[in-house]
Amino acid sequence: MSYRVRFVEPTLHYQRLKTELDSTMQDVLAKGDLINRSQLREFEQNLAAFVGTEYAVGLNSGFHALHLACIAAGVGPGDEVIVPAHTFVASVSAIVLVGATPVLVDSGEDFNMDADACERAITPRTRAVMPVHLNGRLCDMGRVMALAEKHNLIVIEDAAQALGATYKGKMAGSFGFAGCFSFYPFKALGAFGDAGALVTNDEKVATMATRLRYNGEDRETGEYHYHGFTCLLDNLQAAVLDVKLRHFPRWLARRQQVAARYRAGLADIPELRLPHFEGDEYHDTFQNYVVRAARRDELATYLDEHGVEVLVQWRKPMWEHDGLNLGKHHLSGVEAICREVVSLPMNAEISDESVDYVIQTVRRFYGR
Ligand SMILES: Cc1ncc(COP(=O)(O)O)c(C=O)c1O
Repeated sequence: MSYRVRFVEPTLHYQRLKTELDSTMQDVLAKGDLINRSQLREFEQNLAAFVGTEYAVGLNSGFHALHLACIAAGVGPGDEVIVPAHTFVASVSAIVLVGATPVLVDSGEDFNMDADACERAITPRTRAVMPVHLNGRLCDMGRVMALAEKHNLIVIEDAAQALGATYKGKMAGSFGFAGCFSFYPFKALGAFGDAGALVTNDEKVATMATRLRYNGEDRETGEYHYHGFTCLLDNLQAAVLDVKLRHFPRWLARRQQVAARYRAGLADIPELRLPHFEGDEYHDTFQNYVVRAARRDELATYLDEHGVEVLVQWRKPMWEHDGLNLGKHHLSGVEAICREVVSLPMNAEISDESVDYVIQTVRRFYGR
């Protein structure tokens, strides 16, 4: 199917930065700077400065950032970690793969973890909480941090979808023990392949992650401190990300404009609930523009048939995937989200004309 409006625009994205990116990539390749070179360190410094943390450790995925954060936190067998059930599976897998028990909790209107549900889920075995900032909006970090302090919990932020989003002026990823980012190609800041990073203010955590990503080795002394992984952010991707990070604030501003245009064009349709939530303390970046829609499946099909590429994430709750062994749950917030949501095209490259076409197509579907 050739779409009139793509969900994301990787080709256009590349074309717009081609000169800058080509020269950066050629430079990396010509110098043979492939693994663990200066471009990686420069990107890490710039990322840490952007987020407002002391350290950033480049990794090859958001999953590995979460996994290494759990390891560095010492979370393991016998520990419970509270995590929203409505998230990408990697958040939960990171907890399971260190031998801890994920405690799935419900989500609220803004798609993020319900702080009351989080509080109710705390037991004497709760060791950590993993707030996930979905779609470029932070969780209620005032409540989460207060709960963490009261119950002595480690906070590992899954900020994979929230680079640049803030709560009370503080950046996603900078609140807790560690913040975890994904630079999967279709994230607001995306690499040309898998990539991620862990940020932290704790030097020991940064050092441990830096070793774990390189099979446990301290590269300066050659000493192996742990059994680790091969999960370093490669140099070429780091150089690409560093170029893109310079453009990132402008892209976030464009996402705001696109969201505002959707809002102006769709807000009067009672069958839709748009992702514009209350709270002046939040600054959202619209990683995704997720609407709750009456007759969601019909709307998604109609948009698809009329040349608008959309995404439904996720059609069934995570615990219903038997292979994940997450037990049986009944979380009405998450179940409603799975029934109701569809994500409209959202990227920094989309034209106003394309946004208007999406708006008109949605309006036509609802007979307006
Ligand atoms: C909320 C969330 N957590 C974790 C991840 C994992 O990141 P990656 O795909 O880079 O491993 C993603 C990526 O899509 C995500 O959206």
